[in-house]
Amino acid sequence: MQPISPASDAERQDPASHYAWLRQTHLALLHGERDWIANLANTAALLWQELRDINWAGFYLMKNGELVLGPFQGKPACVRIALGKGVCGTAAQRRRTVIVPNVHEFAGHIACDTASNSEIVVPLLKDDRILGVLDIDSPRLARFDEIDRAGLEAMASALVAGSAV
Ligand code: SME
Repeated sequence: MQPISPASDAERQDPASHYAWLRQTHLALLHGERDWIANLANTAALLWQELRDINWAGFYLMKNGELVLGPFQGKPACVRIALGKGVCGTAAQRRRTVIVPNVHEFAGHIACDTASNSEIVVPLLKDDRILGVLDIDSPRLARFDEIDRAGLEAMASALVAGSAV
């Protein structure tokens, strides 16, 4: 694997180009490696390196009907989340991305880090099976938008397709 340098200011200039760069870099990172945990860990590290104004980025994986903490970057977090609970459990149950502009207004939000003010959770789907979720938190209100949704959903699909799972 080549070392992954951070994106340049030009590549960061607008969010859509930054996600185009991120998607390419992510594919290069996944290339030639199908280990699920290794690919989850490197994806969390890449997002942590690249996305601005975030305080947590990582995965919860479905195990025996509940979400269990997987590879992540940020402060230690709650380990188990029931399906349908919190933002993560809601996204997993709906099998759809959930964007929360203000976590303090989301009934049932699970606060792992008091710095978090907004959140996006993207399901990891293989055919009809829910494998887990990608969760990113931000201290900035309304940090995540439709560009984040599209970029992160594409990366989630590449991650599942490129891993043995
Ligand atoms: N806020 C999440 C819990 C996980 S932490 O943010 C890392 C939720 O409500 O599901």
